[in-house]
Amino acid sequence: MKRIVLFASGSGSNVENIADYFKDNPNVTISAVLTNKRDAKVLERCDRLKINALYFNKTAFLESDCVLNILKALQPDLIVLAGFLWKIPDALIFHFSDKIINIHPALLPKYGGKGMYGMKVHETILQNKEKETGITIHYVNQNYDEGAIIHQAKTSIAPSDTAESIAEKVHALEYEHFPKIIESLLNG
Ligand code: GAR
Repeated sequence: MKRIVLFASGSGSNVENIADYFKDNPNVTISAVLTNKRDAKVLERCDRLKINALYFNKTAFLESDCVLNILKALQPDLIVLAGFLWKIPDALIFHFSDKIINIHPALLPKYGGKGMYGMKVHETILQNKEKETGITIHYVNQNYDEGAIIHQAKTSIAPSDTAESIAEKVHALEYEHFPKIIESLLNG
């Protein structure tokens, strides 16, 4: 059995899409979803889908070994950041080296780094009149959005696009590619 632990801070539509993708796969389980936002919509999704979900605060994540110890107990094959907005502490990266991946809603190395998340990314891309955008799935290292790239997918931007319509196109790419990449990493 391969075990996935997901981290999310927001809506969790990627979490739900990944859960849906693996629901009939007897070899893959979502051990838990962890969130740093006590009012995140992802928690409602986990209730509905009957997925284990835990909230943690900064003390548990940054000032103690609490989250690290929970992860050690869960023994994940892959830790997946799906819209998770805090920087991962070094101790976690050290302990789970090459087992933590992130999805970023742009074509890294462009439009990455601290503060670049969610709609902020799409608004900046629109202002800069980019002709294309996309997604980047990458390993997580000590620096925001700088780990080795695993996979990218592109979509074009039309003159009529808004930040919202770009977000929709990017989400569609995420739903299509992220579960498949997770599956291929789990299969080695
Ligand atoms: C996704 O578009 C993901 O790429 C982005 O947050 C969104 C979460 O959506 N992640 C980042 O911006 C990380 N820097 P969701 O909660 O509906 O899955």
